[in-house]
Amino acid sequence: MGFVDYEVKDKIAIITINRPKALNALNSEVLDDLNAVLDGVDLEAVRCLILTGAGDKSFVAGADIGEMSTLTKAEGEAFGKKGNDIFRRLETFPIPVIAAINGFALGGGCEISMSCDFRICSENAMFGQPEVGLGITPGFGGTQRLARLIGAGMAKQLIYTARNIKADEALRIGLVNQVVALEELLPTAEKLASTIAKNAPIAVRACKKAINDGLEVDMDKAIEIEEKLFGSCFESEDQREGMANFLRKKDDPAKVKVVDFKNK
Ligand code: CAA
Repeated sequence: MGFVDYEVKDKIAIITINRPKALNALNSEVLDDLNAVLDGVDLEAVRCLILTGAGDKSFVAGADIGEMSTLTKAEGEAFGKKGNDIFRRLETFPIPVIAAINGFALGGGCEISMSCDFRICSENAMFGQPEVGLGITPGFGGTQRLARLIGAGMAKQLIYTARNIKADEALRIGLVNQVVALEELLPTAEKLASTIAKNAPIAVRACKKAINDGLEVDMDKAIEIEEKLFGSCFESEDQREGMANFLRKKDDPAKVKVVDFKNK
């Protein structure tokens, strides 16, 4: 695929935004390619995605400033919708998506990382929403997701000042879960993804949906969402096998094995 590479490794897949000449900035073509890659994910086989950028300098340096520079009001709105639709698709994608941030994550780059389930980054990563310095607001969900992730006060400070922050500060404010050396970034992301992929896939998907959907409603409704998804797991073979495996150890501890969950 033109600007987006896709590689499957056992039960995990790596999506790489690959437009190094522009530090992986997101123009319409990159966004279309990303959407097409998501269309092609085999949800029977793949259990966790990793999103990263090509090279060792930049994850995604934002939306493409050249493309945006001549937009009209209506075109600006449409470009925002295009990015938002794809980022929302990523956020609600049935399986977990880990952002492995290998450098600049500015503007649309910070925003796409926030559409992933969680973020790990390399020591050279840099985050920020520099849009007000360009005369615009964040346009791919930054005003909403940053405030939800790190709190309104800290998000407002970062967005209004357009200040970039380094990996250690991103860790301190809870924007990323872990900082590792650049060469350890993909191995760490793959190890995390493999750990997730070993667990019962139907249950993992249900957890993602419960957390995402639950955060959008009040606690009474959120608990109902969890109850339904919890109940739905009892229709799966993986629940029967997972629990049977636990109970077998009561008879004979030697019988306990690592369950090979079937996604059924
Ligand atoms: N859009 C288009 N091109 C970009 C780009 C972007 N967001 N970011 C970098 N590039 C291009 C540069 O124009 C340059 O291209 P040329 O070689 O053809 O001149 C190439 O990538 C390399 O960039 P630099 O020479 O600038 O590299 P640097 O190491 O000196 O600086 C940087 C790196 C600090 C990331 C700097 O490139 C930069 O500030 N980029 C813009 C970051 C930004 O403002 N992002 C937010 C965009 S607005 C947005 O995302 C809106 C939204 O929410 C939807």
